[in-house]
Amino acid sequence: MILVTGGAGFIGTNFVLDWIASVGEPVLNLDKLTYAGNLENLASLAGDARHRFVQGDIGDTALVGRLLAENEVRAVVNFAAESHVDRSIHGPAAFVETNVVGTFGLLEAVRAYWGALPAERKSAFRFLHVSTDEVYGSLDAQAPAFTEQHRYEPNSPYSASKAASDHLVRAYHHTYGLPVVTTNCSNNYGPFHFPEKLIPLMIVNALAGKPLPVYGDGQQVRDWLYVGDHCSAIRRVLEAGQLGETYNVGGWNEKPNLEIVRTVCALLDEKRPRVDGKSYAEQIAYVTDRPGHDRRYAIDARKIERELGWKPAETFDTGIRKTVEWYLDHADWVARVQSGAYREWLSTNYGERESA
Ligand code: NAD
Ligand code: TYD
Repeated sequence: MILVTGGAGFIGTNFVLDWIASVGEPVLNLDKLTYAGNLENLASLAGDARHRFVQGDIGDTALVGRLLAENEVRAVVNFAAESHVDRSIHGPAAFVETNVVGTFGLLEAVRAYWGALPAERKSAFRFLHVSTDEVYGSLDAQAPAFTEQHRYEPNSPYSASKAASDHLVRAYHHTYGLPVVTTNCSNNYGPFHFPEKLIPLMIVNALAGKPLPVYGDGQQVRDWLYVGDHCSAIRRVLEAGQLGETYNVGGWNEKPNLEIVRTVCALLDEKRPRVDGKSYAEQIAYVTDRPGHDRRYAIDARKIERELGWKPAETFDTGIRKTVEWYLDHADWVARVQSGAYREWLSTNYGERESA
């Protein structure tokens, strides 16, 4: 069995569902169920003996140690993290707590368990750490995309805390020989994305007739990867990645935020036109920029293609279409995640942002 941490969040949910459908090996899912974790995402696995859920913290070394031993875990895939840059600006402590101290606790539990395994299981064991391209900092418009050799220059409390966790993972390999692999992926989008991140927020706000808040001039560039492609990359790295190596994962799909928002609006215009016949793009509202906002991320994903034969299956056109359709088909899910805590966050993040 494998241990997946953070498997009730956006990418973790997609990974667990894909893993059980395509690999079929049992998954032990450890998730703290913060605002971002939602067991409803995994409802389709109810009664399936291949999925076992435990609510708990990755930093709880005793709990993790017990779970590893009781379930004879052969690999850990670590998704659990605080993941939203804007939240890290308003409250960085939780990011240090989970992403740095929590990852440390998890690594300690894994090191103790792995160290006591018999030789064959010890050499087959894997710890896959899921990280982000944001650890590399911001690129100028013409600069080449991030390779695995790019220096770490994290700029937000989120990316700094992820960078710290990457360094710990690296050190546990270098010092203790822990069999680790790390992936650094670009911005994901797709089903089950919590609607406080750019793409789902725009879909949800557009349909609700609310403003579509674009930070600054909207010309910040991200590389976007459909979440199913991130899951297939992780499966491939887990299967064939070289120990101690890092792999950049990306969609070869750099776009400025404004273009993303306009694409979402155009798809909604086609699939769920506004009653007044106008475009959803009329709802775009420029608001005060994010402090320290990274201007551009771009991923050079040639290493994982060359060494492991992985390439994304979706283009942005196919992926964004599927995503918009998923949100149109899952209005109930959207309504249920818009809890009191969600509304509180909207007022924290947007209440004091002026219109630009
Ligand atoms: P998410 O915020 O949607 O989900 C995170 C999950 O982790 C939630 O279910 C939450 O309850 C759980 N969690 C938080 N703290 C925990 C703790 N202390 N112990 C156990 N569980 C805890 O995040 P996501 O977008 O699914 O991202 C998953 C991972 O992928 C993160 O490590 C993130 O840094 C990385 N990543 C995300 C993206 C992206 O675009 N979303 C891109 C690259 C890398
Ligand atoms: P986000 O989804 O928060 O991901 P990240 O900051 O990790 O890249 O944001 C993606 C981009 O969209 C980022 O440049 C910030 C911008 N953005 C907006 O312009 N408006 C918004 O309301 C949000 C949430 C993000």
